[in-house]
Amino acid sequence: MQQIPGAWQRTARGAGLLAPDGSSVPTIFAEMSALATATGALNLGQGFPDQNGPEAVMDAARRAIADGVNQYAPGRGFPELLAAIAEHQQRFYGISLDPAREVLVTVGATEGLAATLLALVDSPDDEVVVFEPYYDSYAACVALSGARLVPVPLRWPDFQPDLERLASAVSDRTRVILVNDPHNPTGTVFSREVLDEIVRLAHLHDAVIVTDEVYEHLVFDGPHVPIATLPGAAERTLSISSAGKTFSLTG
Ligand SMILES: Cc1ncc(COP(=O)(O)O)c(C=O)c1O
Repeated sequence: MQQIPGAWQRTARGAGLLAPDGSSVPTIFAEMSALATATGALNLGQGFPDQNGPEAVMDAARRAIADGVNQYAPGRGFPELLAAIAEHQQRFYGISLDPAREVLVTVGATEGLAATLLALVDSPDDEVVVFEPYYDSYAACVALSGARLVPVPLRWPDFQPDLERLASAVSDRTRVILVNDPHNPTGTVFSREVLDEIVRLAHLHDAVIVTDEVYEHLVFDGPHVPIATLPGAAERTLSISSAGKTFSLTG
């Protein structure tokens, strides 16, 4: 098909998915999943389980559809779901939220991330700080928004960022510090020192902290600590979770 110019091009370029001839190439996920299917290999390329998710959740979904929950949902999400999400935050983290004002349902964390970045970033002078390696949709959304991606590397062997490097990456141009904790693909959990520094820098430079906590329930040592629970963080933090990851039902 003829390549029609548009915002998709800078989005694809930002994610490293624009071929030299101007066409788009598949994401690493599509490429690896296709190869795993073709060769029968175990697929470690994309974050979904090789077996069905929990029966109870699948039953509840089937029942809900059969019982009439099958038309447009309110834009923010069904009140029952908003209340359940607020209850989750209270039960696991002691975070109190008003479900009617402080919770939003999106189609996966990926839509939540896209909506958040497009809402908060609006100029080519804006910067979004991310920790590298990162989920490829970050670069695509930041490129779509027209802003600049500022990666801070995670370092072997514990994959924590260097605090000086982090401090020099955040400036008054930083609109968003995007924190994926627990982190994919390294599996690291940010130290308290790193989380404190992110909050300090966000205050110092008036940046918003956006979290990607889709792996919050896959922590092996100790409970997950959402950055929103740190002193002074909640008022400038937008936390993103994923029912797909939590319930092992990514479809
Ligand atoms: C770090 C990270 N965030 C978000 C997602 C996607 O979450 P969702 O399926 O809820 O859009 C993934 C999927 O692999 C991921 O690795």
